[in-house]
Amino acid sequence: MPHDQKTGMIDRHHLNGHRSLVIWFTGLSGSGRSTLANMLERYLQEREIHTFILDGDHVGKGLNRDLDFSDAGRNENIRCVGEVAKLMMEAGLVVIAAFISPFREKRRQLRTLLGKETFVEVFVDTPIEICEKRDTKGLYRKARMREIAHFTGISSPYEYPENPDIRIDSSRETPEESISKIISFIWPNLGYRKS
Ligand code: ADX
Repeated sequence: MPHDQKTGMIDRHHLNGHRSLVIWFTGLSGSGRSTLANMLERYLQEREIHTFILDGDHVGKGLNRDLDFSDAGRNENIRCVGEVAKLMMEAGLVVIAAFISPFREKRRQLRTLLGKETFVEVFVDTPIEICEKRDTKGLYRKARMREIAHFTGISSPYEYPENPDIRIDSSRETPEESISKIISFIWPNLGYRKS
């Protein structure tokens, strides 16, 4: 990183009263990534921590609307969102990203890009049977009817994280418990300086 930018980040730590981080939720469609991302943002905002959510369902409609769900399309989606997250981190924010991000190699690249100390991988480990049963957007049904191609978990792979920083077991934990697990993990790295 250029020297000026690094100085800028230290100043922002002082200005904001916290360091910047990227908390990256990975998991199947319907696993609860977005719900947890929103709850986490609320928790942090209540403590005046500056946050921003990057969510697959929104980025797919704007920034990356020209990309499809082929392997190449997803890889480009994640690469691009990773760069956006990096910029936002340099701007001093706690970035909360919620993307299926199905490929291990791509997630490994994110860790390299965003920094070992500042990238937190959270695996929302909800079994596909539960995601499919919920089917909040009706997409699993469409995928089974072959109306949607390359659907994660049905006709496109999801590579389970082997060593996530945090694993959320939504069949055993309440969302509140999951959030406090995440908070305990990130708090020491946040360098929170507000009283
Ligand atoms: S990713 O694989 O590139 O990380 P991303 O998280 O941006 O995906 O988008 C996932 C969202 O797009 C899902 O939550 C779902 O609502 C929608 N979607 C539409 N088509 C597909 C598909 N073929 N596979 C998975 N999700 C899809």
